[in-house]
Amino acid sequence: MDRSPEYQVAFLIVLGTAGMLVLVVAIVLFVIVYQKRILQSQLEKQQLEANFQQKMLEAALESQENERRRIAADLHDSVGAMLATVKLGMGNMLRSGKTEDQDFTRSVLDETISSVRKISRDLMPSTLEHYGLSAALREFCERLQQSSDITFSFIEEGEASMLALRDSSTLYRIVQELVSNAVKHSGAKVVTISLTWKKPELMLVVQDNGCGFSVEEKKKQNGGLGLYNLENRARVLGATLNYNSAPATGTRIELRWNYEKT
Ligand SMILES: Nc1ncnc2c1ncn2[C@@H]1O[C@H](COP(=O)(O)OP(=O)(O)OP(=O)(O)O)[C@@H](O)[C@H]1O
Ligand SMILES: [Mg+2]
Repeated sequence: MDRSPEYQVAFLIVLGTAGMLVLVVAIVLFVIVYQKRILQSQLEKQQLEANFQQKMLEAALESQENERRRIAADLHDSVGAMLATVKLGMGNMLRSGKTEDQDFTRSVLDETISSVRKISRDLMPSTLEHYGLSAALREFCERLQQSSDITFSFIEEGEASMLALRDSSTLYRIVQELVSNAVKHSGAKVVTISLTWKKPELMLVVQDNGCGFSVEEKKKQNGGLGLYNLENRARVLGATLNYNSAPATGTRIELRWNYEKT
């Protein structure tokens, strides 16, 4: 069947326009689907971030509660019990007037005083307040050494800066948790705490030669609060944390913080 040239041109124009239309629709559809995907992955990311924040908040609240419970138990079980014994001892002492009753009461009072000192030192070591982070960590190591077979060492390099008490106590708590983890879980023989001051950065490392662990796995298992609290504290400080742990070498946790930024 013969078609006139006008017909053929009109046919080609219609075909071309239809092709263009299909192409435009395909592009529009592609853009819509692509944007939807991006939006979805952004939403998923936000959801993950929100879950993490929620977990950190819960960990912070729970550990505050645990801390209160621990202090209450310390006060009740040690100070409370000792003061009750002193009261008894004083009754005996007044009744009998014997020197052994006086000596007993005096020794229980001494124990009570050192117990109160220990509780308050654990809460906020006065060395931290008066002499700064390095002195407090050195004292912390010495104290641990006295009651343990593990070798604790403290190494410091560079010129120390005096930090705000808020920041130094955050760093002190971080070290307390890391060392307590090394003692509780690693079976290490040697635990080293090191501070390296290199203006404007402070690098704090806690290292043990114990059994090592997988941080990601432990976090997924939802066990303790320690690791969440650590990250919480580091985040508040604006510091970065790096975990390096392997069965053969033990655990090395490194914190880097720009102390001149605060
Ligand atoms: N230095 C370490 N060596 C070996 N395993 C460790 C070390 N630090 C942590 N872990 C493992 O990671 C887990 C999680 O530590 P995390 O501090 O969060 O909890 P926890 O110490 O068990 O409890 P909490 O800190 O709440 O008292 C530990 O139970 C332990 O199995
Ligand atoms: Mg812990």
